Amino acid sequence: MASIAHQTVVITGAGSGLGRAMVHAFSQQGWSVAVADINVDAGQKVVAEIEATGGQAFFQRCDVREEADLQQLCDRCLHEWQGIGVLINNAGVVSSMGSTELTLLSEWQRLLDINLLGVVRGCAAFTPTFKAQQGGHIVNIASIAGISSLPKFANYNASKAAVISLSETLRIELGQKNIGVTVVCPSLFKTNLADSMVNPREGQHEKVSQAMERSSISADDIAQKVVKAVNKNQFYLLPHKHTWLVWWLKRLSPRLYELVMARWPVA
Ligand SMILES: NC(=O)c1ccc[n+]([C@@H]2O[C@H](COP(=O)([O-])OP(=O)(O)OC[C@H]3O[C@@H](n4cnc5c(N)ncnc54)[C@H](O)[C@@H]3O)[C@@H](O)[C@H]2O)c1
Repeated sequence: MASIAHQTVVITGAGSGLGRAMVHAFSQQGWSVAVADINVDAGQKVVAEIEATGGQAFFQRCDVREEADLQQLCDRCLHEWQGIGVLINNAGVVSSMGSTELTLLSEWQRLLDINLLGVVRGCAAFTPTFKAQQGGHIVNIASIAGISSLPKFANYNASKAAVISLSETLRIELGQKNIGVTVVCPSLFKTNLADSMVNPREGQHEKVSQAMERSSISADDIAQKVVKAVNKNQFYLLPHKHTWLVWWLKRLSPRLYELVMARWPVA
């Protein structure tokens, strides 16, 4: 793809976890990286790490809840690079677990505003540039939660299912215009994501953190797979091997899938 030749990538939520790992993975391949995050200290630290290795990166504060921040991020990238290769909509938060009927509406709004509308705002801000330069690539970080629909996670599941659907739509809409789309659906892996829970019940933070610790793969492993997926213009990326079982079981036997999920241990 012509636009990939720019070797420039902008990543939201790049100050921590998977975002930070993707900054390093793309930089190791010689790409220039725009590090965007709401957390200024964390984002600037990642830029310093890249500069220490001789790579090229700059920081731009960006809250994905603000349309103007995404537009400024796009403008800054164009100013720095004259063209943009890849946008990665990665910024996200998780909710504390709870029965659907007891989850506060304000918590639904927080999750959807960041996890779904943050991605929508990113796509809306950058797509005109990709269309104008007749090429580019969008990576949306969803989750296997958007497919598996684990009990007690309704708002997180719904936000990520919507990101998968949005990505499927964009893949069709933009494919004719030489703009690639990848949607990434990881299972749990170790990051600081549990810290974004608001008012978790006693022990919930620890349970989620321990489940993340048990992951067979790391944020760095997933970041390497994202680089490869972009280069191959691969659409679905399910980096944890076992999650393909979830994918197929749900499609081939929805009733059996439902029975398995109903017995799933949740906190
Ligand atoms: N860690 C996992 O187990 C897991 C599994 C599946 C999917 N994911 C997804 O991966 C993505 C990255 O999460 P992570 O696990 O690296 O978590 P993390 O908490 O380590 O990193 C998330 C980053 O997003 C930033 N952020 C939060 N709100 C923001 C906002 N409004 N605007 C801009 N930046 C904001 C945070 O400052 C942080 O730097 C998320 O979309 C998450 O849902 C994570």
